[in-house]
Amino acid sequence: MSAQAPVRRITAPQIRARKGGEPIVSLTSYHAHTAAIVDKYADFILVGDSLGMVMHGMDSTVGVPLDLMIMHGKAVVRGTQRALIVVDMPFGTYEESPQEAFRNAAKIMKETACGAVKLEGGARMAETIRFLSERGIPVMAHIGLTPQSVNTMGGFKVQGRDEAAWATHIDDAVAVAEAGAFALVVEGVVEELADRITAAIDIPTIGIGASKNCDGQILVLEDMLGLNPRVPKFVKIYGDLGPAIERAVSAYAEEVKDRSFPTSDNVYR
Ligand code: KIV
Repeated sequence: MSAQAPVRRITAPQIRARKGGEPIVSLTSYHAHTAAIVDKYADFILVGDSLGMVMHGMDSTVGVPLDLMIMHGKAVVRGTQRALIVVDMPFGTYEESPQEAFRNAAKIMKETACGAVKLEGGARMAETIRFLSERGIPVMAHIGLTPQSVNTMGGFKVQGRDEAAWATHIDDAVAVAEAGAFALVVEGVVEELADRITAAIDIPTIGIGASKNCDGQILVLEDMLGLNPRVPKFVKIYGDLGPAIERAVSAYAEEVKDRSFPTSDNVYR
């Protein structure tokens, strides 16, 4: 009998090498069981700080603490074997200095065993991205609509509607790519700007509400499963888990109320 070869995880350099190649498939996941399903199809899984809103009922991602990211990161790593796991650095854990960012990114990587971290920001984060990348921490960058800046943006607003702002976004993309980011999430920007960003840099762009021509796509799992009541307009709903859960819960409640619910009596006889 031959022993089964262990599954090798996809690495950040392998994602980096997919620029202009086969589109990169990615989704968020926050817990072991959904991650195990996503693992079969995704090249990387993002433990996004969107979990604050999607799982914990927060109004924005600003309040997400580092320990919560680490807890969910551990669960997703446990549930998966193949996909690269990327964990978001939450607001307030990396902006102050490259040293602060390194300390917290290293903590995330040591405690979760993930393969990379993601942080938000363009040119202003380039020095930090270089600092981390040169010290063994693969960084995915994130520009366009950056949810951690909701309070300075004045809401979750699509970026680049005004063509005058395009050069700044493209400069941001070039800055993070040159600083050593292995991939770039481009969120909530008009399609033509996303296409120009993709053409301007030599690392893969991962679109979310951006353009089908990005080098890959990401969606929040609960959004595409129909589980999030506050889904962004651009999201295609591939499942109807919200209504399915409601049907199941109401059937259970009915059975409990009319005493037709199977008890241990009839199950174990
Ligand atoms: O937190 C998150 O889920 C994200 C994705 C939306 C890209 O950053």
